[in-house]
Amino acid sequence: MKEVCFESKMQVCSEAELSAEDKQLADAAREACDGSYSPYSGFAVGAALRLSDNNILKGSNQENAAYPSGMCAERVALYQAGALSPQKAVKSLAIAARTKEGFTPHPCPPCGACRQVMMETETRQGGIPIRLILYGTQACYIIEDGTKFLLPLQFEKETMKIHP
Ligand code: THU
Repeated sequence: MKEVCFESKMQVCSEAELSAEDKQLADAAREACDGSYSPYSGFAVGAALRLSDNNILKGSNQENAAYPSGMCAERVALYQAGALSPQKAVKSLAIAARTKEGFTPHPCPPCGACRQVMMETETRQGGIPIRLILYGTQACYIIEDGTKFLLPLQFEKETMKIHP
């Protein structure tokens, strides 16, 4: 028997240290919170993604009285990209979250289901990783190399292949 370890890594920085491109996307994620429909949680999440042609698409969480029918901000944005621009790669994705107290000091990490959808988006675009920018007023996290650091031991199309 042998032990196998998975590694994760991210960059931590302040908002002021973000590059101009990352800052623009983080600002778009903050703006996207305005479109959130979150009367049940009071937790508004905004996501903004940059396509290969540099266009930015936004999404926000959409809740429902039938709770599981709601959808996270990241998947609203990613499914929008898949539906509107399936030929364009998603280069980067920024996430911000706001409560009645304002934007969260620490970033809102994407939930497991959103990580799964990000992973499949990377597969669809030939393995091009999605750069993640997680916004917080006190710290921002940057994950440069895509979902492999966020979701080890991935369930994917290959998993379902029948092996002799
Ligand atoms: N939420 C997101 O939009 N993205 C995440 O990655 C985590 C959670 C939303 C879902 C729900 O509307 C609210 O945040 C509270 O869970």
